Amino acid sequence: MSEMIQKLRAAQNLTDSELKTLLETDVYDEELRLAADAVRREHYGTDVYIRGLIEFTNYCKNDCYYCGIRRSNRCAERYRLTKEEILECCEEGYALGFRTFVLQGGEDPYYTDERICDIVSAIRGRYPDCAITLSIGEKSHDSYKSYFEAGANRYLLRHETANAEHYSRLHPSELTFENRRKCLFDLKEIGYQVGAGFMVGSPFQTTEHLIADLRFLQELSPDMIGIGPFLSHKDTPFSDYPNGELKLVLRLLGILRLMHPQVLLPATTALGTMHPQGRELGLRTGANVVMPNLSPKSVREKYMLYDNKISTGEESAQSVRNLSAQVQAAGYRVVTARGDAKSYRKS
Ligand code: 5AD
Repeated sequence: MSEMIQKLRAAQNLTDSELKTLLETDVYDEELRLAADAVRREHYGTDVYIRGLIEFTNYCKNDCYYCGIRRSNRCAERYRLTKEEILECCEEGYALGFRTFVLQGGEDPYYTDERICDIVSAIRGRYPDCAITLSIGEKSHDSYKSYFEAGANRYLLRHETANAEHYSRLHPSELTFENRRKCLFDLKEIGYQVGAGFMVGSPFQTTEHLIADLRFLQELSPDMIGIGPFLSHKDTPFSDYPNGELKLVLRLLGILRLMHPQVLLPATTALGTMHPQGRELGLRTGANVVMPNLSPKSVREKYMLYDNKISTGEESAQSVRNLSAQVQAAGYRVVTARGDAKSYRKS
C-alpha cells in the first residue's frame, strides 16, 4: 500500500498538501477504497443502518441558489404533512423495521417550535425505543433545546461549505457560514448527535474549499457526515452548472472513513440519483447508512431538491426488501438497530 494511504489510515490525518494530491488524482482511488472498506469493517462489520426519511414540508423561507425548494422557485408545488400523516409514516416505518425517523423539511415558519415539539413528543411517546432526528435548518439555541427536551436526539444540518466566501456564493447574504457553524456547535453542546456535511462539486468549489471542509469536520467531530454530489435543478440560478463527479464523491467518502473511523456515513440519495449503482459504490467505499424515503407517495415527487431525484422503486420504504437485497449483493447487511455512532460492538 502507498505511504499516503497508510499514513491516512494510521494517523487519521494528512497535511494540506498531501490532501490536495490525494483529492486531485485518481491513482490512489482503488487502495483508498480498500482501506476505507477495511476500516468500516473493523468498526461496523458489514452492518448498514437504515433511517426512515420523512420529508414533511417543502415550504422554505430560504433562497439557497442551488436548491429546488428555495422560496423563489414558483414552479415548486408546495405541501405540508399534518401531525397525523407524519405519525402514519412512522407507523409504517416501524413495521418495516425502521428505528430511526428523520424529520426533514424546508425552513417553514408554519412549524413553530410549539408545533415541532408537539410532533416530536407524539413520536417519542409512541416509539420510546426509536431515535428521532430533526433536519429543519438554522434555529436559535433555545429552539434547539426545546426540541431536545421534547425527545429529539439527533440533528442533521449540513455545513454545505466551510469557506465563508464560498458559502456567500451559494447563499443569499442573510445566510452566513458563521451562523451555520454556531448552530452546529449549539446542537452539540445541547447534547444532540449531530450530522454535518457538504455538496461535492458545487459551483465555484475548489480543492482548497474541500480541504477546509475536511478541517472543519475534524474540528466539529460530528456523529454523521452526509455528502453527495451537487446536482443542478432546472428552476434555480445554478441550473446551468455541471453536476458533481461520482469519482470525487467516492474519493471523499473513502477519505472521510479513514479520517473518522467511527462516523456514520450515508450513501446519500444524491449519490444514488447520479448513478444507478451509486449507493452500492458508496457502501463499498466506507459508507454504512442508507436513508430510504418514508414520505407518502403523493408528496415524494414534490421534494425535488435537484433534477431527477429518485423517488420510486428502491428509494421507497415499501421496497426496503429490495434495498436489503441490493445491500446484500454489495456484500453488506441491513440491520434494524438504532445504530448510534460508536455503539457498535464486534460480536
Ligand atoms: N444538489 C445536491 N444536493 C442538494 N441539496 C440541496 N440542493 C441540492 C442540489 N441541487 C442538499 C443540501 C442540503 C440537503 C438537504 O440537500 O446539502 O443540506
